[in-house]
Amino acid sequence: MKRVHIFDTTLRDGEQAPGASLHPEQKIIIARHLAQLGVDIIEPGFPISSPGDFMAVQRIAQEVTGVEICGFARAVKDDIDAAIRATEAAERRRLHLFLSSSNIHLDFQLRKSREQVIQIARSMVAYAKQFVDRIEYSPMDATRTGDEFLFEMIEAVIEEGATIINIPDTVGYALPEEYGAMFTRVMNNVRGGKGVEYSAHCHNDLGLAVANSLAAIRAGVTQVEVTVNGVGERAGNCSLEELAMAIETRKEALGAETGIQTWHIYEVSQKVSRAMSFPIAFNKPIVGRNAFQHEAGIHQDGLLKNRSTYEIMDPDRLGVPRSMIILGKHSGRHAIKHRVSQFGVELTDDQMESLYVKFKELADRQKVVQDHQLMELIGHTVNTVLEPYTLVQAQVLTGTTGVRMASCTIMDNAGKKELVLSGTGEGPVEALVAGISQALPITVEFTDLELYSLSSGEEANGEAVVTVSANGCHYRGVAVHRDVLMAVAQAYMAACNQAVRDYARHPQAASLANDGEVEITIP
Ligand code: KIV
Ligand code: ZN
Repeated sequence: MKRVHIFDTTLRDGEQAPGASLHPEQKIIIARHLAQLGVDIIEPGFPISSPGDFMAVQRIAQEVTGVEICGFARAVKDDIDAAIRATEAAERRRLHLFLSSSNIHLDFQLRKSREQVIQIARSMVAYAKQFVDRIEYSPMDATRTGDEFLFEMIEAVIEEGATIINIPDTVGYALPEEYGAMFTRVMNNVRGGKGVEYSAHCHNDLGLAVANSLAAIRAGVTQVEVTVNGVGERAGNCSLEELAMAIETRKEALGAETGIQTWHIYEVSQKVSRAMSFPIAFNKPIVGRNAFQHEAGIHQDGLLKNRSTYEIMDPDRLGVPRSMIILGKHSGRHAIKHRVSQFGVELTDDQMESLYVKFKELADRQKVVQDHQLMELIGHTVNTVLEPYTLVQAQVLTGTTGVRMASCTIMDNAGKKELVLSGTGEGPVEALVAGISQALPITVEFTDLELYSLSSGEEANGEAVVTVSANGCHYRGVAVHRDVLMAVAQAYMAACNQAVRDYARHPQAASLANDGEVEITIP
């Protein structure tokens, strides 16, 4: 197996995506996660670009160990000096220099001749080489350059001491077979070309960044430059998680492997998405919320028999926490029965049939039937309320100043009493959570909130996905409402109900917070 080195440029090229910029502290946290994820090289920023970026690169070089740190610079002395200073403390480091090579860039952007550009490339690589041995060189816009000049530039920088040749598809123009063949030609024809490492750097303008990177690997490159979630200029860069999982899943076919610790993938993807305020498309491979979810009855049936019927990767190995079966109008009896049994509820055949009819009626009216709604339907079927608590009503007072206040009425279904509670917080969500939490017999921590706008206009709906943790377990509640705060309140209630139900089923595993205050009896 050939070991492919993962060069992560989320914090440099990824951060160049409009609106994605990060504070130094955020960069440091993400860099630590990247190191844990097992990337080989981190390019943490562009040191000359701002004092903040310089500081971020410097701190990452000082504090993040176990990876090579790459200083990024134009082929300009001041840039190189800044990159050298910023990466001084790194355990291992390299310098990455770039200069355009295509006529389009030379004529319209640099306004320099080919001779001048070769001269700059030579002198700047030689300058950088005095300070750092590992020099990566990128002829920018290489895929629109043409062999003759590309070879000339690469030969020149190798002669001056470049040790890694990165050939960027800067504008995402290449097709996979072209990109792979370009590496083969460079490797075979450039003087000194056999003694350096090669790297692929692909942009995704035509949606081909991963395919092009794989073609480069097949042609012999040993490094691929990627970003988490594929963030980057325009349509982004080659996505780390997609490339890593393509290699992992098809390693025999590719004869390659990476050092990525796959079980951190989802967590890192979430961290980057949040830090950059960049939502992940629902259907994004590997990390999108639908990536491992199935609604079609035939698929659900197959999955319940054997996961590999419709899944080529195991989401558990990626740290993906979502349930794979989504209940909706395409779901069949088998999937519903399975979910009912997961709730620990047993139904007779007649009850199951009646539940199925009710389920289909509801599923026809809405896209997805959430767990708490299924619980309610089961409750109607067996004439009992199964959820420990029902949020009867909630109100929240919010505004531009002062604390936010919430009041809510919660039905304690087992104790058959209505609880009227209030809470305050810096924001309306905090106030609602504070109010609802008082009803609970266990300590529940609100760990995460995802909000989605599901439609626009007067009928707009907000979807809230709330994750809580209790007694070392995570629970997720989902609710859709025209008032987004009510969606949050209901989703929180749904997640808490799961935690309380679990506690009621396995009390020995839990520690009571409000010992004995509320008695829970769940049928
Ligand atoms: O896309 C590109 O060309 C780059 C280089 C500067 C490596 O990001
Ligand atoms: Zn790039």
